[in-house]
Amino acid sequence: MRIAVFGANGPTGRRLTDQALAAGHQVVAVTRRPGSLAPRPGLTVAVADATDPVAVDEAVEGTDVVLSALGARFAKERISTYSASATAITTAMARHGIGRLLVVSSSIADPHWRPTGAHFFNHVLDPLVNRRLGRTLHEDMRRMEDVIRRTGLDWTLVRPSGLFEHPVVTDYHTAETSADGVFTARTDLAASMLRELGERRYVRTAMGVVTTEVKPNIAKLIWNEGVKKK
Ligand SMILES: NC(=O)c1ccc[n+]([C@@H]2O[C@H](COP(=O)([O-])OP(=O)(O)OC[C@H]3O[C@@H](n4cnc5c(N)ncnc54)[C@H](OP(=O)(O)O)[C@@H]3O)[C@@H](O)[C@H]2O)c1
Repeated sequence: MRIAVFGANGPTGRRLTDQALAAGHQVVAVTRRPGSLAPRPGLTVAVADATDPVAVDEAVEGTDVVLSALGARFAKERISTYSASATAITTAMARHGIGRLLVVSSSIADPHWRPTGAHFFNHVLDPLVNRRLGRTLHEDMRRMEDVIRRTGLDWTLVRPSGLFEHPVVTDYHTAETSADGVFTARTDLAASMLRELGERRYVRTAMGVVTTEVKPNIAKLIWNEGVKKK
């Protein structure tokens, strides 16, 4: 398959690209910073801001499926990256007759998601970090989900929990709507999306994905996601 990957130079996008190439697919890596991706067999780099309809239209032309792992940073102000990119991507896909779309969203997009046994997370971290500091980001993620749901495409909204780095794919767990767990390794997130391309278990619905076999080192997670990434 020829797969367009949005957010290809982000941490999940790199995993997606690596795993797709390793599985024998061709990848069109869509990025605003082409210099950040080294040339490799099977990899084409397309330069586009994902919110620019003309650039997105050109980037997806000739691809069979579209995967998006792009993301924005927390901000006080209104965020529109998710909804604007979803509008540009779905419009371009419809125009080119590309039917299959998998987009990374978040477990937070499910208003009923409360992982079992995670008292401190549910009562302290989630209200403070996700629902207060990340309020505008998650509002736009929900707008993105609405944009995608309204299309006639074969979409899957992919909802991971707290992302962390782990070197290998584990025996991750998926579930409709959202999955019961606080963390998701990016390797597992990428693997679940590529598997769903073949299996089509979650077409026109949301797929939660969580990692249960390993847990992140919390100090490392805070350093990687909260300090180093800024
Ligand atoms: N962190 C968590 O715990 C967590 C939990 C659940 C869900 N998520 C979601 O998972 C997704 C992936 O997260 P991640 O941490 O792997 O990646 P990330 O750091 O959010 O990656 C951002 C990527 O999106 C690209 N991007 C942003 N705006 C763009 C635009 N307008 N046009 C083109 N590319 C654009 C960035 O490219 P540039 O390099 O050009 O900026 C970068 O490649 C995000 O949507 C995030 O919100 C995260």
